[in-house]
Amino acid sequence: VSYFPYKNNKMFVEDIAISDIAQQVQTPFYCYSSTAIETSFQDYQLAFSNQDALVCYAVKANSNQAVLATLAKLGSGADVVSMGEIRRAITAGIPANKIVYSGVAKTQEEISYALTLGIFQFNVESEPELELISKVATSLNKTAAIAFRINPNVCAQTHEKISTGKAENKFGVPISKARLAYKQAASLPGIKVQGVDVHIGSQLTNLAPFKEAYQHIAELVVDLRADGHDISVIDVGGGLGITYLDEVIPSKQTYADLVHAQLGHLNCKIIIEPGRSLVGNAGILVSSVVFVKNGEERQFLMLDAGMNDLVRPSMYDAYHEIIAVNKSNDTLKTYDVVGPVCETGDTFAKARQVHESEAGDLIAILSSGAYGAVMSSGYNTRMLAPEVMVKGNEFAIVRKRPSYEEIIKQDITPNWL
Ligand code: LLP
Repeated sequence: VSYFPYKNNKMFVEDIAISDIAQQVQTPFYCYSSTAIETSFQDYQLAFSNQDALVCYAVKANSNQAVLATLAKLGSGADVVSMGEIRRAITAGIPANKIVYSGVAKTQEEISYALTLGIFQFNVESEPELELISKVATSLNKTAAIAFRINPNVCAQTHEKISTGKAENKFGVPISKARLAYKQAASLPGIKVQGVDVHIGSQLTNLAPFKEAYQHIAELVVDLRADGHDISVIDVGGGLGITYLDEVIPSKQTYADLVHAQLGHLNCKIIIEPGRSLVGNAGILVSSVVFVKNGEERQFLMLDAGMNDLVRPSMYDAYHEIIAVNKSNDTLKTYDVVGPVCETGDTFAKARQVHESEAGDLIAILSSGAYGAVMSSGYNTRMLAPEVMVKGNEFAIVRKRPSYEEIIKQDITPNWL
């Protein structure tokens, strides 16, 4: 992860020492490398440069305005799943005609807002959703360009909580019912059938499931065209994984070549919706050791960051590298790395080798740029960790830490008290 290099045993983000940022921001905080995000995006663009492709960044992975604006500037579109994400994308400068809207339970209000803006495509996940979109579009005198999200019933070979393309999952229209669904769509007012969409899961480390899914999609597109539908867009979803520990991830070029090999002959515009692979390894969570506690059986490194800041280890047993920001010694020790929250699940790692640390030392939890800050909560009335973005030798606080007053005054005591 070369955007976080060590220089003289001190960890940097691009050209700034993390300890310098920590002095001004106080831990815990998220820290992103702008250049890492840009490079990753440009890798996608380069990989797909011989295809008519649009990268629609999956906003859910990290929806900070600074991240979105960085990508907007490079020409990114957005894959959004809520009114809030649409608003964030637009505010950051992503044009509506580059927005695709996914999600299994879009409400009337959300659909109406997206129609008014004129987004590129609704990725429709069910027949009732289709009917609602038709109704809303007709009442607004608009036409909704749609693709059905097809559930191809393939196994993504990833964690079950982030696997979405099996028949038992709640996502999409089963491929067996697809032709019927398109027939219905073509008959409804306010609907323009435009494409086909598939997303089988996240953190895929192997291309085989993509290949299988895209083969099904290619066959479906042929069938749909034979049925008389004008299919000009294929949204191939997101899901390319990142290296957290030692996962070997196919390159973006290899992935793009696979897309081309499976779908190129159909001459469709290709949408890709990467999230994690754009921002995951561009961010870290910086924390401080509060105490080193000698338990009866284990040594605990107790951090000032907790599961409320980064829930992935608790929620998915996810592995994140945990390393000392300043290596003041060469001694590695085995610790359970835990947070301050009153739950046993508030554990970042068990029996992990980390440089011998003491209270006050800075610790970095790596690969936290995706599904980190966006999944954080205020549990235990802990403040959402601020976010910092670095570019070269500059840094900016891109979300500040709230004050306790701000947090408490969100509650309203009813007047009978
Ligand atoms: N498109 C759709 C329709 C999605 O549902 C997702 C992710 C993406 C694109 C982006 O997938 P990516 O390129 O990031 O793999 N919170 C979990 C991950 C949940 C992913 C949900 N959908 C985690 O922390 O691992």
